[in-house]
Amino acid sequence: MGMKTLILSGNDVNKIVETYGLNNLMDTLIKRTSDSIKSYDSEKTEIPIRSGFNYEINDPGLVEWMPVHKKGDEVVIKVVGYHPRNPQKYDLPTILSTISSYDTTTGHLKGLVDGVLLTALRTGAASAVASKLLAKDSSSILGLIGCGAQSVTQLHALSRLFDIKKVLLFDVDETAMSSFSNRIAMLDLSIEIVASSIEGILNTSDIVCTETSIDVGTGPLFNELKTSEHIHINAIGSDFPGKVELPLDLLKQSLVCPDFLEQAKIEGECQQLKDSEIGPDLSGLVKNAETYAYAKNQRTVFDSTGWALEDQIVMDLFLDLATEFGIGREIEVENISEDAKNPYNFMLKTVSV
Ligand SMILES: NC(=O)c1ccc[n+]([C@@H]2O[C@H](COP(=O)([O-])OP(=O)(O)OC[C@H]3O[C@@H](n4cnc5c(N)ncnc54)[C@H](O)[C@@H]3O)[C@@H](O)[C@H]2O)c1
Repeated sequence: MGMKTLILSGNDVNKIVETYGLNNLMDTLIKRTSDSIKSYDSEKTEIPIRSGFNYEINDPGLVEWMPVHKKGDEVVIKVVGYHPRNPQKYDLPTILSTISSYDTTTGHLKGLVDGVLLTALRTGAASAVASKLLAKDSSSILGLIGCGAQSVTQLHALSRLFDIKKVLLFDVDETAMSSFSNRIAMLDLSIEIVASSIEGILNTSDIVCTETSIDVGTGPLFNELKTSEHIHINAIGSDFPGKVELPLDLLKQSLVCPDFLEQAKIEGECQQLKDSEIGPDLSGLVKNAETYAYAKNQRTVFDSTGWALEDQIVMDLFLDLATEFGIGREIEVENISEDAKNPYNFMLKTVSV
């Protein structure tokens, strides 16, 4: 008796997006992310801090595992690699990843899905959920500091909730800025896109996303620059011990909301703060939106390190859509012996009497 695993390759994931529609997908993901965070109960869903290996050879990078246990249902584990030299050296994305889902009744691998596009989508959706609660509803100018893969989905997700009219770009790599318009052509947005300085971005933007591959120990990205009074920043790139994007004085002037407090204190902007200087986590924010509505008029920061719950939400969405559209391949990955107590059973010869 074999047990099937649903495999969704990168191509399958692309087909799902094309069949469902890119905007439809982002809207559904933002809604599911918001709803799941609202009903999130740490008694029912266990999420440990992620762990991994960090190395300098062959190239600087890390491979981490991010587990979630939805009790009585499934364990989802994302394995994610971060290799910032990938784009220049190997023509590959900085983030490579796969997500797997295990049935907790038997341990069976239910699904294995590409995590590259899914990570970018869920990171955008999480920023949208946070920005909806922390940024001014009238926000129309978006600043992007770091114009790589994540910046595309940050803009996409935010454009679904805000009437973005202008995008200001800064990246240390000139081609990341000059190629940006072409890379977002499929979003069909009527927005003005302008290269800027970090100072220009901070002075005029309503919402800023920082998604740089800044090296450990070299941050923050800027110091002592004035921001507008009501700015909201989604800080995406600070996701490793010693890797920070924002200066301490700006964090201290802001309501800082981490996605996952315990992880953000080790890897996020919250590394720089005392506990008393940290605001509600994303779940606290979503569950108590009215309490924090005042923050829309001041400086706010979403400290996004990447929460494994977001990976479970996006994987479940893609598994649902794959079933609905009949996309993906089911294969028997696990070796299920006809005799549960004999792993060599397949080698037994039939003995005729
Ligand atoms: N919070 C999350 O959930 C989450 C999810 C995915 C990625 N990330 C992080 O987001 C960051 C970006 O990921 P990506 O996939 O877009 O990578 P990417 O390599 O595609 O893009 C990163 C960009 O940052 C630019 N950059 C590097 N240093 C800079 C600096 N000092 N100032 C301005 N620009 C600079 C690079 O030139 C590059 O264009 C990474 O640090 C990654 O770890 C976080």
